[in-house]
Amino acid sequence: MIQDHQNIVWHNHLITRKSREKLHGHQGIVLWFTGLSGSGKSTIAGSVEEKLHQLHVSSYLLDGDNLRHGLCRDLGFDKPDRYENIRRVGEVARLMADAGLIVLTALISPYRAERQMVREMLTPGRFVEIFIDTPFAICEARDPKGLYQKARSGELRCFTGVNSEYQTPLHPDIRLNGEYKVSYLTNQVLEFLRLKNIFTA
Ligand code: ADX
Repeated sequence: MIQDHQNIVWHNHLITRKSREKLHGHQGIVLWFTGLSGSGKSTIAGSVEEKLHQLHVSSYLLDGDNLRHGLCRDLGFDKPDRYENIRRVGEVARLMADAGLIVLTALISPYRAERQMVREMLTPGRFVEIFIDTPFAICEARDPKGLYQKARSGELRCFTGVNSEYQTPLHPDIRLNGEYKVSYLTNQVLEFLRLKNIFTA
């Protein structure tokens, strides 16, 4: 049942994002990785998180495939379900950034409007859109889960890039060439975070 928001009041608590950020020693932000299946989102996000962890940065990686085992297990891949998937993960990421963490998300998130929706959930500057720009042919050749093959043979409906669209980001905060080495791309992200003074180590 949809809630009647008229009777729900926001409670301002004593401990704020600023207090929590001070404790962590860095900002709470969302690094939103987007790209085709097989583009390298999870691998690169995982590698960035590993480096952050070594630098004593508090982080959490929200991986699309993993979330679909729990939080989003009731959702499929048609447009309304993908919208709800991104909305839920966006809200969770917003809360975790409010807790002072550097949150990394790895979801295809194929639609511009939904990525923009999550950007608008966050304080300006706290949403970093990272586009893993890997040519479609390479993603299809990699086919790590055999899903491109299934989509081509008609076994899988609504598969992004084959029978469902992917809207390329027009102005991502970071564009990574997915054909390059993971270590190089990881450093590109870390450089960006240092340049923006998100963490100083
Ligand atoms: S999103 O479009 O809603 O952002 P999400 O990142 O959560 O997608 O899930 C994508 C993962 O689900 C892919 O990496 C792939 O392993 C799996 N998957 C299964 N069916 C599909 C499909 N029809 N389209 C895209 N990904 C699919």
